[in-house]
Parts: sequence; C-alpha cells; structure tokens
Amino acid sequence: MKILCVGSLNIDRVYQVPHFVQAGETLACAGFSQAPGGKGLNQTVALARAGASVRHAGAVGEDGGLLRQTLRDAGVDDGLLAQSAQPTGHAIIQVDPSGQNCILVSAGANGTLERDYLAALLDGCEPGDILLAQNETNELPWLLREGRRRQLTVAFNPSPITPELPGYPLDCVDILILNEIEGAALSGESDPTRMPAALRAAYPRARVMLTLGGDGCVYTDQRETVRQGIFPVKAVDTTAAGDTFTGYFLAWLAEGKPVAQALRAASAAAALAVSRPGAVPSIPARRQVLDFLCKN
Ligand code: RIB
Repeated sequence: MKILCVGSLNIDRVYQVPHFVQAGETLACAGFSQAPGGKGLNQTVALARAGASVRHAGAVGEDGGLLRQTLRDAGVDDGLLAQSAQPTGHAIIQVDPSGQNCILVSAGANGTLERDYLAALLDGCEPGDILLAQNETNELPWLLREGRRRQLTVAFNPSPITPELPGYPLDCVDILILNEIEGAALSGESDPTRMPAALRAAYPRARVMLTLGGDGCVYTDQRETVRQGIFPVKAVDTTAAGDTFTGYFLAWLAEGKPVAQALRAASAAAALAVSRPGAVPSIPARRQVLDFLCKN
C-alpha cells in the first residue's frame, strides 16, 4: 500500500527560552538553531524512516534547498515538489527548559498549492492507497473530497486548529489522527475520558486515533477500542513528537500490522523524538524504534 502525503515544509527557527515570551516582554534566548520541519515534511520523514513507501506533495520557494535535501536524505523524491514564487514556509518555535514548545507558522509557499498539481499526483494513487494531509496547506476541502471520490484511504491530522476547520468535509476522512486540543475543538467534548466516544459519534465513518499527552493514546472505531500508555523519557523538545507518532502509526497500519502493535511502535517513536532536539532531526529510524521496543 502506497502513501501520498500532501503537506507543509517549513524551515524551523528554534529559540531556547527560559519561559514563553509574554505580551510586552523582550526576552533573551539561551540558544538558537535552524532545522527542517513542517508537519507535512515531518510526517513524510517519519513514514520513510519507518520503512513506508511515501511520496510527498507540497511547495517550497527558491530558498527551499534544505527541505529538498531533507526529502532526498530520507529517500523521498523531491522532484514532485512544486516550486513557488512565495518564500518557503517557516516556523518560529520557542522551547522552554521542560521541552514544551510554542509555535508560530508563516505559510509562505505552503499556501500556494494548485488543484491541477495535486490532481496529477493523485492520479498516481490507486484505490486503497493512503492520502495523508495536515492543516498547514491550502485546498484541503477539495483534497479531502477528491481523496474520497478516488476511493483512497483518507488520513487527516487536523493540526493546527484554524477557524475554517469545523467547516471542512470531515465526513470524507477514514482515519482521523488528533490530539486532545483538536479533539475538543472537533467534538465539543473537553473531558478526555468521554472524547473518544464523542469523536466516534461525530465522525462515524472514521477510525479515530486520539493522543492524550502524558496519558498515552486511544484508538477507537466501530469494532474496537485500544489504549497505549507513554514510554516515559526525559523531555528535551516535544516538537514533531505528534508527527513522528502519526508517521509510525500509519506505516505500521500500511504494513497490515494490528492496531495494538502500531500504537506501541508509534508511542516508542514519539518517545525517542521527545528526547531529542528539533523536528526532522529528532525523528528516529525504524531500527532505533525496534531496539527501543526490545529494551522497554
Ligand atoms: O509539528 C511540528 C511542526 O509544526 C514544526 O516542525 C513546525 O514547522 C510546525 O509546522
């Protein structure tokens, strides 16, 4: 089963801060670094490092060389990317001493995808292949409908939350992968214990994969509900942990593995990502995840 990821590619500018900057405050940073990121690119790299067959659709500007190289390094064809007249997307990320983050994104080229370009890449998919998207590119309502029309397995990570999101055709989604903030926004239920059932009721066609931070994750569909706890690690930087989880979860499902195994592998991969700095640089290879699982 092949996977097409349609998603953002960002240059992440990461600032180590003593605390998140407050309104009116000027804050000196303890460190700065720049690295490849973007939810789409992170998830594609996680899929590739997990061993999945993945193509990436997205756009970068003339300044996108680092992100093209990142795809090539992961064994993914960068020749499918659209070249935009807009600058490459970027993110400004504050990371505090506990490893938590706070992210601002500027879409740039990520907001310039055209339907003809996307349709040409969808033409390379067969019914049953996975179409994966997040909420950092344009044309998403069209893309979700088109994925369903072409009988693809539509996987959607509705991150970040935007005002338009509740109006998207989420009835076209087969696999909804989200965290508890996104879950609350889409179900209206803020109690994490009731959220899985609320999401299932709201999106009866979808298999729901809900991550709950320190409380692990829960998968639910009309047949089964499976839970997985976290693997405790010292958090260095939580950036891209959710993207790593998504990539590994889908890679294991694409291999036909049971949900419980996919959850365990995805949780292990996310734990490794949390223990390392950066977005793409923090995503572990399949061998590292398997070794970690053997030891834990
Ligand atoms: O999910 C983490 C990602 O969100 C970062 O890499 C940043 O680019 C933003 O898209």
